[in-house]
Amino acid sequence: MRFLITAGPTREPIDPVRYLSNRSSGKMGYAIAAAAIDAGHSVNLISGPVCLHPPPAAAVTSVSTSDEMFEAVHHNLKECDILVMCAAVADYRPSAVSKNKIKKQGKDFSLGLTATRDILRSLPERERQFLVVGFAAETTDLHANARKKLQDKNCDIIVANDVGSPESGMESDENEVTIFFREGETKEIPRQSKQKLAHELVNIFAKMCEKRLTKKL
Ligand code: CTP
Repeated sequence: MRFLITAGPTREPIDPVRYLSNRSSGKMGYAIAAAAIDAGHSVNLISGPVCLHPPPAAAVTSVSTSDEMFEAVHHNLKECDILVMCAAVADYRPSAVSKNKIKKQGKDFSLGLTATRDILRSLPERERQFLVVGFAAETTDLHANARKKLQDKNCDIIVANDVGSPESGMESDENEVTIFFREGETKEIPRQSKQKLAHELVNIFAKMCEKRLTKKL
């Protein structure tokens, strides 16, 4: 199968030397890319700025802003069977990017922000030929928030993780997740290395995709 995987953070420029970003390391997305290749799938990886080496067999598109990630996903969508939106895409970007470095001003400083485009919400809602996997990074009400994202973002699967805990989620080498399926079931995967977890996730995604393809035949 053909995996299209996004990973890492995005950077939204403020001026030539500053940007807005988040703590995503890209480790989970890169581990999923490696696990998919190990399992014999092809991988197209769209990566935000991270300090990791992609698996040599992956086709890689490097992006920086949420706009670039949006365009890259849509450009590659036709060639995928499973889209895994693991990237921590910024929700807001500065309303204007200053051409020159912004000089220090008085005590208070505020920055005007504009919502970015939501990549998952921009996907076709009906007759999709590919499986859509979203991620949910939560610090409170994980179940309720993940179910809402599954619905609002029209995903087939949401993989939710608690990013408030230091042992799992962002930057950590380990993670524990709860998977929410469109049909209502959930599956908890206990804390383990992101590599091991990625193998299990790839298995689940591929099986689900196969089931859908078989149904269509
Ligand atoms: N996502 C996206 N486009 C955006 C923001 C997020 O496609 N502009 C995707 C992420 O890649 C992830 C899912 O939406 O698969 C959920 O991201 P998350 O950061 O958990 O939630 P948000 O939609 O940003 O909502 P909130 O910050 O309010 O939790």
